[in-house]
Amino acid sequence: MKALFVNGSPRRNWNTHKMLASAMQGAQDSGVECELVNLYELPAFRGCMSCFACKLKNAKTNGLCAIRDSLRPVLEKALESDIIVAGSPIYFSHPTGLTYSFLERLMFPVLSYNGKYDPETHTMDSRILTRTIHTAMIYTMGYPDEEGIKDFGYPEMFRENSRFLGQLFGTCETLYAYNTYQFSDYSRYDVAEGIEPMKAKWRDEKFPEDLKKAYELGQRLAEKAKGRRD
Ligand SMILES: Cc1cc2nc3c(=O)[nH]c(=O)nc-3n(C[C@H](O)[C@H](O)[C@H](O)COP(=O)(O)O)c2cc1C
Repeated sequence: MKALFVNGSPRRNWNTHKMLASAMQGAQDSGVECELVNLYELPAFRGCMSCFACKLKNAKTNGLCAIRDSLRPVLEKALESDIIVAGSPIYFSHPTGLTYSFLERLMFPVLSYNGKYDPETHTMDSRILTRTIHTAMIYTMGYPDEEGIKDFGYPEMFRENSRFLGQLFGTCETLYAYNTYQFSDYSRYDVAEGIEPMKAKWRDEKFPEDLKKAYELGQRLAEKAKGRRD
């Protein structure tokens, strides 16, 4: 049983990486072989180039993106895994550019244009993978109010990413942490008074709960992958 954790934050050992590391610990403690990749440490790579090599008749790509660059080994590992967990900070209401480049190149090659089409609903059985890979998205964000997140449309964005991953890989869970602590030394940055103590309190009291939820997510995915739960 293998799991791949993909850090889409440019920062190591910060919020997103910590959430992923905690989920990884949960999976590891449940007997899963785990690996974590930091996307921003790979030599430059691009998102989907719309080359359509994966949509050619008799394409030999087998669900793997045809572009040969630094992301390819990561995509290979993802397709060999039983669990894929991608984590990203929210930048301007979306996952980071590199997270999305990774997702484009992970998802598009496993999406078939030649599935059974229903003309009534315009839906298509677009899955090419024959086995389930349990997936999850973990987001971290600075915004301090969960209700406000709803006003910005984040839940719809989470749902949409989850819908694609679930449709193409079999299952997808979403976990997020908000009001994250942003700098190691707030005194060096031009930030309104009162923000640091509010963030520090949240980091000390609430973020550990988020880390625990991430740990439990890792455990749950491991159990699902082992077939004990659905
Ligand atoms: C370029 C940039 C844009 C950001 N945009 C948002 C945003 O739209 N909403 C939000 O809640 N936080 C935003 N943030 C804050 C980060 O999402 C937050 O600090 C996150 O936890 C950082 O993850 P990290 O600690 O793993 O780097 C932004 C941060 C940066 C650097």
